[in-house]
Amino acid sequence: MASMRRPASLASILPEPRSRSLIVGKTGSGKSTVGYVLLDAYHTRYPDHPVVVFDPGGGFTPVSGETGGLFPDGVGARLHGRVESVAIRARSVQHPPVVFQSGSVTLIQDVGVFLQTLEAMWKQADWSKPILTFLDEVLPVHSNARLDYRVKRLIQMGRKHGLGLIGCSQRPKSIEPILISESDRLYVGTLYHVYDREAMSKNCTIADSKRLMIPMPMKEFWLIRQDEPAKSVRFRLNLRKTA
Ligand SMILES: Nc1ncnc2c1ncn2[C@@H]1O[C@H](COP(=O)(O)OP(=O)(O)OP(=O)(O)O)[C@@H](O)[C@H]1O
Ligand SMILES: [Mg+2]
Repeated sequence: MASMRRPASLASILPEPRSRSLIVGKTGSGKSTVGYVLLDAYHTRYPDHPVVVFDPGGGFTPVSGETGGLFPDGVGARLHGRVESVAIRARSVQHPPVVFQSGSVTLIQDVGVFLQTLEAMWKQADWSKPILTFLDEVLPVHSNARLDYRVKRLIQMGRKHGLGLIGCSQRPKSIEPILISESDRLYVGTLYHVYDREAMSKNCTIADSKRLMIPMPMKEFWLIRQDEPAKSVRFRLNLRKTA
């Protein structure tokens, strides 16, 4: 379909504040990379909005004692032509933030701290001051009842409180289906198992969900917009060192 081939800029694939987005794809398909590129572009576009990154797997490499980052030296992410530089840095915390500072990017790697942060976030929730949460892997959340409950609440009721979410998953078949159905945007990369592709197409409300059944090349993603399907695009980031 022609609209799927339309050139896209990073801005055009960005999540909106207060929205839910889900990035899926098998191990190594580039989910975290897409996620962090989106986060960086989001942070540049909405510099006042606090961002909370929960990364229990340690994908964020420590840059210095207190700072974590991915692409600390900077890489360029090219999407159909334009190169946009990406350099993510986050302040790593061992205690939940007391207030969510405007423009802060907070990195949390401890489950307990993340739980307390989700509570604090909920208490301070204010529609006019959106907070974006990034979850690098959603699946383990379901095996922790307290975390599972809070993340589901964030998915179902966060929007009206100004709380947005970007989640990544390599097994869409095993995650909570509302995570798929409630996402405004689905970034769908290579899915090896047909069950995973089925889980996506079953829980998607787009007209052409059958196309999710076609295997994707590695590092390529569909951006499926459930809100505006005509604006769905297919993209691949070309990473290059800028420093
Ligand atoms: N568009 C791209 N072009 C070239 N290399 C890429 C691209 N996207 C990701 N990579 C590289 O591929 C590797 C895997 O990417 P990434 O960690 O983002 O995958 P992932 O889906 O998050 O994997 P996992 O499931 O293990 O978390 C990394 O070394 C990353 O730098
Ligand atoms: Mg990853």
